[in-house]
Amino acid sequence: MITLKGVEKSFGKQVVLRGVNLTIPTGQLTTIIGPSGEGKSVLLKHIIGLMKPDRGEIWVDGVELSRLTGKALNEVRKRFAMLFQSAALFDSMTVFDNVAFPLREKRLVPEREVPRVVNDMLERVGLTGMGHKFPAELSGGMKKRVGLARALVMGPEIILFDEPTTGLDPLMAKTIHDLIRAMHKVFGFTAVMVSHDIPAIFSISDWVAMLKHGQIIAMAPSHEFPRLSHPDVREFLSVMDGGMSVPVDA
Ligand SMILES: Nc1ncnc2c1ncn2[C@@H]1O[C@H](COP(=O)(O)OP(=O)(O)OP(=O)(O)O)[C@@H](O)[C@H]1O
Ligand SMILES: [Mg+2]
Repeated sequence: MITLKGVEKSFGKQVVLRGVNLTIPTGQLTTIIGPSGEGKSVLLKHIIGLMKPDRGEIWVDGVELSRLTGKALNEVRKRFAMLFQSAALFDSMTVFDNVAFPLREKRLVPEREVPRVVNDMLERVGLTGMGHKFPAELSGGMKKRVGLARALVMGPEIILFDEPTTGLDPLMAKTIHDLIRAMHKVFGFTAVMVSHDIPAIFSISDWVAMLKHGQIIAMAPSHEFPRLSHPDVREFLSVMDGGMSVPVDA
């Protein structure tokens, strides 16, 4: 289980996280929504240990991640994969080598097994035969899928997805969602996703949490979230979902 307690983070004078309290249920898919620039990506970077809080604690299965450094931090981070908002592929490497990278870096499988594992993963994300291409030769949706393949290939216990579908057409967004859901079913990882894809995220997530003004202002099972009466939730959903949210008094 991942737990954040009173996590605060500022950049210079700008306060971004003002005491985030959040518990991420193990083996489930939790989606964080909220207005742009509120700190969702910053929050994910704290969960994976890429950023340290100014105050507060981040616990992963009884270990306080926010206090770890060096080797101990790396040990915990081996359990995580993150799909960055920008896909963050290595431009000088082929698609194949990008996906193979974590396998080789962490020596997860013997080198002779790498082609089979990588090609299998490329097939799962619909990129069969694309291994020789370079990121610059790919569309936005293809890059996202390479990022997804690279995150999934290590069989991580915890995966963080930062806006996996932003900038994709609705069909490609649905493909990515279905892929995340299917992989989640197969591998049972704990997933934290940041997404603006409302209403789609309500049907693929187990839990939905909303970040606003540097705090988690609401969290609920995904089927209950659209009915929450919190005014900030109502306002956000009415803008985002084009009428999908259920009126509270319905
Ligand atoms: N490394 C950094 N140094 C300084 N400021 C940062 C850094 N990372 C993020 N910020 C600032 O923190 C704020 C929150 O950024 P963040 O990327 O987490 O927003 P977000 O909620 O993910 O937005 P979006 O939905 O647009 O992706 C922004 O004002 C951003 O400029
Ligand atoms: Mg972001």
